[in-house]
Amino acid sequence: MAAQIIDGKAVSAKVKEEVRQQIEREGLDVGLAVVIVGDDPASRVYVNNKKKACEVCGIKSYEYALPAETTEEELLELVDTLNADKNVNGILVQLPLPKHLNEEKVIERISPMKDVDAFHAANVGKIMIGNYAFLPCTPAGCMELIHSAGIDVSGKECVVIGRSNIVGKPMAMLLLHENGTVTVCHSRTKDLKEVCRRADILVAAVGRANFVTADMVKDGAVVIDVGINRGEDGKLCGDVKFDEVSEKASFITPVPGGVGPMTIAMLMKNTVMAKKIQS
Ligand code: GUN
Repeated sequence: MAAQIIDGKAVSAKVKEEVRQQIEREGLDVGLAVVIVGDDPASRVYVNNKKKACEVCGIKSYEYALPAETTEEELLELVDTLNADKNVNGILVQLPLPKHLNEEKVIERISPMKDVDAFHAANVGKIMIGNYAFLPCTPAGCMELIHSAGIDVSGKECVVIGRSNIVGKPMAMLLLHENGTVTVCHSRTKDLKEVCRRADILVAAVGRANFVTADMVKDGAVVIDVGINRGEDGKLCGDVKFDEVSEKASFITPVPGGVGPMTIAMLMKNTVMAKKIQS
């Protein structure tokens, strides 16, 4: 039977509307600074989408578009300025940065109270403990999609493919907090197919087009596709071979229109949270 498609656009619109209503109801004055260095076209699209979401929610957005030659010192100076700016509640430095800039150093410079991506080691540590203000945006978006489909994670076999700091590792933590039995797979995993076939909930965060095929998926599994890739035809596609996997899964997220819009909606939520913990 064909899977039910989880509509990330609809769920994200609902989350953003809740954020908008909260800001209106509580009369909050919320600001997000978005920093982009260089002219990576994908990053430009993401940054524009983040600015649009701010408009929808009633959050002021401040864009800092810096040239690719920006030095580390200049970027760190900007972060310091934004850390001290009372109108800025959240700071987001779009990744990846040009190669001559040390991403870790830049992220660590952001005040943890303004780190709406939850990338700072202090916030990552809180996620690990389970006592956190900021949710990691993409994993939190995946959890919202799972909940929106009425799925209870407790006791389920959860397999995450990918161990990045941004998605794979925090995703595993959020599933664990909800009492999933979690396995994290990566490029050295032996017998990946067999491990994936155990999953009741399979999260693909590999960054390779059409990596997950139907033979890797258990009948009736819930499949969450975090990938945003360009296929050979130049079209956007996920990490999951949608046409064949959707014949086997019970629920599946599409690309585009699945996890992508959720990341931005959760960022809006974090920005309001930032305002709250700063006041
Ligand atoms: N690059 C890809 N995803 C993200 C994200 O969620 N936040 C930031 N800052 N950069 C990214």
